[in-house]
Amino acid sequence: MNEILDSFNNDPYRLIAILQSVQEEYRYLPEPVLSYIATNLGLPRARVFGVATFYAHFSLQPKGKYVVRICDGTACHVNRSQSLLDLMDERFKLNDNKPTTDDMLFTLEKVSCLGACGLAPVVVINDRVYGQVNVDKLGAVLDEILEDEERRR
Ligand code: FES
Repeated sequence: MNEILDSFNNDPYRLIAILQSVQEEYRYLPEPVLSYIATNLGLPRARVFGVATFYAHFSLQPKGKYVVRICDGTACHVNRSQSLLDLMDERFKLNDNKPTTDDMLFTLEKVSCLGACGLAPVVVINDRVYGQVNVDKLGAVLDEILEDEERRR
């Protein structure tokens, strides 16, 4: 944590960049870390929490190792994105009410438009974009991830 703050010279004007780095490191913004940042940058705690909760990009909830973003914007919706959301629910019991698996492997996020409507339906897993995804294709990608994880154990 101190390394991140040092790399930004403890500069309170770089709060957003600091929060981005912290989120990359922890995959979310733990509340004790936000308090620590506020103290070290000499900012009111409310200001740091305000920024962290204002931007949809930031999360105060822990996320899984693989964040599966399924677009449910208009173009993706008419191309059956709901079947992909249903697959996540069937396989991992993930939905709007329970976005993260208990083993912290997957987090499901339903998003409105990823700006790649020509590839609808679109799924992004971490930084990798998958276009024209159907249930079989998503299932195969998830199988691959699970096999990789199994090998690492
Ligand atoms: S509606 Fe899904 S990428 Fe635009």
